[in-house]
Amino acid sequence: QPVLLKDYAPPPYLIDRVELDVDVREPWATVHARLAVRRNPGSKDTGRTLVLDGEHIELLSVAIDGRALAASEYKVDAQNLRLESVPDAFTLETRVRFDPWKNTRLEGFYATKDGLFTQCEAQGFRCITYFVDRPDVMAKYLVTLHADKERFPRLLANGNLVASGDEEGARHWARWEDPFPKPCYLYAMVAAKLDLLEGSFTTRSGKNALLQVYVEPGKVDQAGFTLHALKKAMQWDESVFGLELDLDRFMIVAVGDFNMGAMENKGLNIFNTKYVLARPDTATDMDYYLIDRVVAHEYFHNWTGNRVTCRDWFQLSLKEGLTVFRDQEYGADEYSRAVARIQDVRKLREVQFAEDAGPMAHPVRPDTYVEINNFYTPTVYDKGAEVVRMIHTIIGKAAFRRGMDLYFERHDGQAVTCDDFVRAMEDAAKVDLTQFRRWYSQSGTPVVACRGEYDATAQKYTLTVKQSCPPTAGQPEKLPFHIPMAVGLVAADGADMALRLEGEPRAQGTNRVLDVREAEQRFVFVDVPSMPVPSLLRGFSAPVVLRSDWSDADLTHLMAYDSDAFNRWEAGDVLATRIILAGVKAIQAGNVPEIPAAYIDAIGRVLVNAARDPAFAAECLALPAESFLAEQMDVADPDAIHVMRKRVIRILATRYRTRFEGAFRHFSVPGAYSPDAGAAGRRALRNAALAYLMELDDSTARALTFLEYRRAENMTDTMAALQCLANSSGAERERALGMFFEKWKDEALVVDKWFRVQATSELAGAIDRVQALLKHPAFTLANPNRARSLLFAFARANPVHFHAADGSGYRFVAEQVVALDALNPQIASGLARSFDRWKKYDAARQGHARAALESIRTRDALSNDVREVVDRALA
Ligand code: ARG
Ligand code: ZN
Repeated sequence: QPVLLKDYAPPPYLIDRVELDVDVREPWATVHARLAVRRNPGSKDTGRTLVLDGEHIELLSVAIDGRALAASEYKVDAQNLRLESVPDAFTLETRVRFDPWKNTRLEGFYATKDGLFTQCEAQGFRCITYFVDRPDVMAKYLVTLHADKERFPRLLANGNLVASGDEEGARHWARWEDPFPKPCYLYAMVAAKLDLLEGSFTTRSGKNALLQVYVEPGKVDQAGFTLHALKKAMQWDESVFGLELDLDRFMIVAVGDFNMGAMENKGLNIFNTKYVLARPDTATDMDYYLIDRVVAHEYFHNWTGNRVTCRDWFQLSLKEGLTVFRDQEYGADEYSRAVARIQDVRKLREVQFAEDAGPMAHPVRPDTYVEINNFYTPTVYDKGAEVVRMIHTIIGKAAFRRGMDLYFERHDGQAVTCDDFVRAMEDAAKVDLTQFRRWYSQSGTPVVACRGEYDATAQKYTLTVKQSCPPTAGQPEKLPFHIPMAVGLVAADGADMALRLEGEPRAQGTNRVLDVREAEQRFVFVDVPSMPVPSLLRGFSAPVVLRSDWSDADLTHLMAYDSDAFNRWEAGDVLATRIILAGVKAIQAGNVPEIPAAYIDAIGRVLVNAARDPAFAAECLALPAESFLAEQMDVADPDAIHVMRKRVIRILATRYRTRFEGAFRHFSVPGAYSPDAGAAGRRALRNAALAYLMELDDSTARALTFLEYRRAENMTDTMAALQCLANSSGAERERALGMFFEKWKDEALVVDKWFRVQATSELAGAIDRVQALLKHPAFTLANPNRARSLLFAFARANPVHFHAADGSGYRFVAEQVVALDALNPQIASGLARSFDRWKKYDAARQGHARAALESIRTRDALSNDVREVVDRALA
């Protein structure tokens, strides 16, 4: 049942043209398809059987070259339509029907309150019509939609509108033609009642493109930022990569019921409303930032994904890793490079490193899967982006750009592999990336241990670097990786030293990239006048766990002076992690944990210098997440981690109360709201200060926060205050939550925030409240955003309560996985992944987690999606 990379073979038949006629008449969607089929000259398969994919659809008729087939001439089952002895080239016609109103999986063509929408990636097209549903089958599409004019005034599909008109029975039709051949996972259509915001963009070659953002009726006032972001992304791709829009029209459609973030269908992107709708009073700075990044991501896919696509789904990172790298760079250019990098790395380490260490570990290019939807993972996306970034670091910006140009020159219009991408980079830069390719095939997070030795007499500094990679699921042994390690040496006065490696005629800068390739390797720096503090892995130049023998004083030195902003932040993060983990040990041993004065002083300096870069200061004030800390322990102790982390916050809040109060007053942002990096950074710092003050949970802090809650005019400040109150013991809590719901009950995305803030509350009894919220009239499992706001928030972002020692959190989440699976397997399996790290915990918790997982596994109607996740967790 698993699909294997090594079994890849080209498709025996290709489909060059697709004509679809789609008729929407509740409860049916009837799809008439005409496919131009021919033998694939590139296939070694000499059989004459054509196997088409089709699921959840009812076959009404089949014809070849106009001749209707009798039932004896084909075989149809729940997955396939098989035709024997087909000609070399022919027209295949099928008619099918299905009920989009019963489609709760939100895959294929499905109905929601405003109309009908598609989601085809990875394998949803087979739920619309019979097809060879794989990305290396590329065709040109002509699509005609018919529907009731009043209910579904908008009829959209990929490409250009070529004709439209009215028809009998108060209905209308529209015909769309997409000039570019595409794999069927990029197919999209919409029949809905939507409002429209339009704009235009003149490409650098002078083409005027029509830009459209379609949203639910009445919400055009929340679409402006998305249109603005789209234009910025188009501009950026032209100036950074020389890539231009290739269509006359580019459409974004927002839908409230959507399994993931967004989808890059050719010319007709379909988005989760979460990544489209924003107004200052409904969306936070983080929402705006993510909209900007996701709009750019989907737009960038037009070249990296659509013009050049994947040969098979094992190559998913070819488009996703590269496109995430591109949207990260866009974010870094549009906002603060250092802060963007810190946030991306934080997420990578919290989520992807944990994935790499758990039962679902897989390489950036997986070699096996049961359900492809389970492999849209942080490894494929975010580690994949790191792998592309490392190539960029190794060959440099100019060569990387030449590599991209060569990649498009060679592969435009093709379905290719990760290896094709690496080869283009190699050829353009004239480097050998043979060893580097292991990043694509080996799973697991490498550990890089560094030891420095200073020889004062010889004025030499020797850096010894050892790399290893722990065994992961299916991969007991690993070969050494090619790791680009950016380093600097920081002198006692804080300045960077000039770097000259032994054997080099002269120093080459103060920041350089070492090529680490061996299991153990030494780098000898000469002309080192005094003992330096090494700044290692600057900018997080490789996705590895770094171990080094820094003293606390070395770390505070780097916090104060490192010229690399990422490493200034990182030094504080390493020190905080060290302190909290030592405190956890002390707590476990019944001792009182200590917090070194040097750390407290260093945080004091962060506050004093905050005005230099408020957003950066806010990052420095954010302690490592509980989930990240848990990963650092052999046996995770969620309670002690929680207690110790809070203790550090409270000690800092007590010590610096005046400074936090000062920051809260000083960094207010006057004037009209803007989500730009400067204003957002000030709000981030101010709200971080408020959160510290609220840890004191006294009446002064609560009153201040409640006042702030009522005064706030934008959602960023509102949510910051509400989140503090949701974790506090005072009467203000219920008042604020009640006011919030009353005010926002008709804005779905804001109601999601209301559920989330309660689901993540650390107060005792959180699980009872979450269970009560399941019965709230505004809750529904059928809407993925709502399910995420309550259930995923609880299971992923409330570790103390999810990992409750009595197993109540595990039992609750397991029940919800089963309930969700009956509606929407993709969302259910996402929730099941919350159990990934169950073996990190103590024996009693493991017992509860195992029982919970087994209770899921014994259900008989389990989806492939959930089964794969649970089987791997229990293996
Ligand atoms: N290609 C989309 C994006 O990253 C995501 C599609 C996710 N599909 C899925 N089956 N999970 O932009
Ligand atoms: Zn993507």
